[in-house]
Amino acid sequence: MAFRFTIAIAILDVVLLTRSRTDDRCGGTRMSGAPVRMDAVVVRGDDELTGRCRLADYSGSRVSMRRPGPNGYLVRMFPKRIVKGRVVLVTGASAGIGRSVAARLATAGATVVTSARDGTRLRTAARYLPGTVDPVECDLTDQRQRREMIDYVVARHGRLDALVNNAGLGHVGLFGDIDQNSLREIVELNVIAVADLTRLTLPHIADRGGDVVMISSVAGWVPVPPLSLYSATKAAVNALVHALRREAPPGLRIHSINPGPVRTEWLLRAAGLRPSDDEGRRGCSFGTSPERVAEEVYRCLTGYRNRTVAVPRWFGAARLAGLPPLSNALDLALAPVAPLLARWARHYQDSLVTRARREQHGDLDDTTSTLPTSTTPRN
Ligand SMILES: NC(=O)c1ccc[n+]([C@@H]2O[C@H](COP(=O)([O-])OP(=O)(O)OC[C@H]3O[C@@H](n4cnc5c(N)ncnc54)[C@H](OP(=O)(O)O)[C@@H]3O)[C@@H](O)[C@H]2O)c1
Repeated sequence: MAFRFTIAIAILDVVLLTRSRTDDRCGGTRMSGAPVRMDAVVVRGDDELTGRCRLADYSGSRVSMRRPGPNGYLVRMFPKRIVKGRVVLVTGASAGIGRSVAARLATAGATVVTSARDGTRLRTAARYLPGTVDPVECDLTDQRQRREMIDYVVARHGRLDALVNNAGLGHVGLFGDIDQNSLREIVELNVIAVADLTRLTLPHIADRGGDVVMISSVAGWVPVPPLSLYSATKAAVNALVHALRREAPPGLRIHSINPGPVRTEWLLRAAGLRPSDDEGRRGCSFGTSPERVAEEVYRCLTGYRNRTVAVPRWFGAARLAGLPPLSNALDLALAPVAPLLARWARHYQDSLVTRARREQHGDLDDTTSTLPTSTTPRN
């Protein structure tokens, strides 16, 4: 009898909740008004229901509903995983996406270890961030430095909860035009360093339900001519993500974030430059804001599942281009225009290099790609 009564109350609650809306109150969420749909409702004792809420704001969150009180229905949201207090290592955090990720996580209360080669830029960036930010100078193409960095993080902070593999390098041009040093550097940074850092990190995060976030690229789904080698390295990262998910211990999460074009200075670095803060700001490429990518990283660290996301989301449709017959059609369509696309992309890259250079020096007319005197060339 009591059981039937509880079921009846549960059904009544769900009917009422589908006609309600939310507002925050008393540390919980009071339902009163607009539609809420439930995936499942489980009766727990006499006075509590649990289920999943599909409200726009709380999509996928677990909710706990109390029986109606004087102020309506009190719905307690089960909190998402919190970032506060976790130790997160973000590579390539002196600029662009990495810097925004560090800012987002530091704002949320994480202890963020930032790394890049340019220690000065790294420390300057850290100075403006809230909370605990620990800048560590490291060239990720050097295996010894990679190992020492992970050892340092664990020794200094006593733990490591998450790794954001962000540092990456591109090359604009046809594959046949890449010199051997650039080829080696791109593969070393985009693939070997990512795999090695992940390997070194796993023992520290495996039994504490940690996260590895790979900043990959839409180019990993749809390789495009001016970025052939870069696309191939990102495809390797995506393959590593799936391979790891299939062998990772339970609780470990492996995420992949695949941005389209992002407004950063990566095209300057792809031209072989090591830009200063000012040059980087002037020489930004077009695209979505790095903060948007950072927000997705934050969601990865606070969610419960492995995530594969494109930024912006609609770029996710690019995955279809990896399947026949679309992939075959792209092979046929892109091959004849590849030299043209490469020339166009190179021209755009040159204009960014010149812009970074011109505003500093005032009156340079040279629009061809040469190393700016004010930037440090890559070794
Ligand atoms: N921008 C885009 O349109 C775009 C699109 C899709 C994916 N992505 C990916 O997003 C990630 C971040 O790109 P971003 O646009 O933010 O690039 P970015 O502005 O050029 O920043 C790259 C960061 O990586 C660091 N870095 C470069 N080489 C390094 C090395 N050998 N060792 C350690 N750190 C190194 C750089 O600092 P130092 O020079 O001081 O070392 C910098 O902090 C990359 O993996 C990139 O492939 C970018």
